[in-house]
Amino acid sequence: MVAKSLHAVARRASAASTGRTVLVFGANGFIGHHLVRRILRSTRWRVIANDIRDARLAEFQGAARFEFIRGSIGNRAFVERLVRRADVVLPLAGIATPQTYIHEPIRVFELDFEDNLEIVRLCVAHEKRVIWPSTSEVYGMNTDKQFHPERSHLVLGPINMCRWIYAASKQLIDRIIWSYGRDNGLDYTIFRPFNWIGYGQDDIHAKTTNARVLTRFLGNILRGENLTLVDGGSNRRSFTYIDDGIDALVRIIDNKNGIASGKIYNIGNPNNNRSILELAKLALELAPRYRYFRDRAASVRIVNVTSSRHYGEGYQDMVNRTPFVGNTRRELGWRPRVTLRRALERTYEAYVEELAGERRV
Ligand code: UGA
Repeated sequence: MVAKSLHAVARRASAASTGRTVLVFGANGFIGHHLVRRILRSTRWRVIANDIRDARLAEFQGAARFEFIRGSIGNRAFVERLVRRADVVLPLAGIATPQTYIHEPIRVFELDFEDNLEIVRLCVAHEKRVIWPSTSEVYGMNTDKQFHPERSHLVLGPINMCRWIYAASKQLIDRIIWSYGRDNGLDYTIFRPFNWIGYGQDDIHAKTTNARVLTRFLGNILRGENLTLVDGGSNRRSFTYIDDGIDALVRIIDNKNGIASGKIYNIGNPNNNRSILELAKLALELAPRYRYFRDRAASVRIVNVTSSRHYGEGYQDMVNRTPFVGNTRRELGWRPRVTLRRALERTYEAYVEELAGERRV
């Protein structure tokens, strides 16, 4: 069985290196639209982009190697038609905001687990390579200095802490993919983004607490609201600029000599490990440089809020999250380049363009 599996992987790797059609589910999302842009600009691959929305894909409409097909991934027959046409499949449609894990855990399970598992199964059935977005969250409350994709334990909280439904859903699909790889010859790569940040992550104009931390802080500064540190803001993340993340992803899709097949990669920037308090201070320090943000920045303060007030009951956090990226660097020839300061500057610049009407979304 294993020999047959390896043979199937090698056959598909060589097929993929010639003509290549990349199918991106959730193409209108944060990672999706940045990825589509990079593929169209710097490769010769064709893109089939699927989403239920297309606002962020408008700039690609009409491009020769780009095709947008609207539709829900809950429709199996529809998904199957798309999968059949692809060489490589990226199921990027999903919910990735902690607020939603707490308020709508079943919706997170249905979309992130059930619908996406169907896509994975179709990749098995039609012998397609799948590149699966796992998450830094699968390591949960592990206390290792760096999280290692093959050695670190995955440590989640109790069931009433429903924040973990996302990590549990992702983790189980990771395990299912790994098993399909070993037993059915599925050609896969699992990647784990570590707090990718940048323009277009969440809606900066939404007044809710739904956005992830950087978008939320920039939105707060724009509206002159205080920045809220959940439970003191001492928890740490390794913030990774979107362009660095996409750079790794393109190397995974490229999959030179099949190097990425059957592998799990953390994609994060250990040098950008900072507390949320440090992130808040940096965002405020830079704000006066940027039109639209500078007007109200002077009145913004950094204040504390309890997690139950910010998110509701069922929230649990991890103290520190730093990726081991030794294998990502060595095997993919990749390294993250963008400092946290530069990442924030670029993100501010992009929002200023949007607010000035010089950028579509
Ligand atoms: C994220 C999300 O689960 C996913 O997007 C993703 O899979 C993964 O982690 C990742 O991006 O690596 P988290 O890191 O908690 O989870 O995302 P944020 O919502 O950006 O929160 C980061 C930290 O900022 C948390 O400690 C949170 O409590 C804190 N925070 C958030 C604040 O202190 N204030 C806020 O206004 C918002």
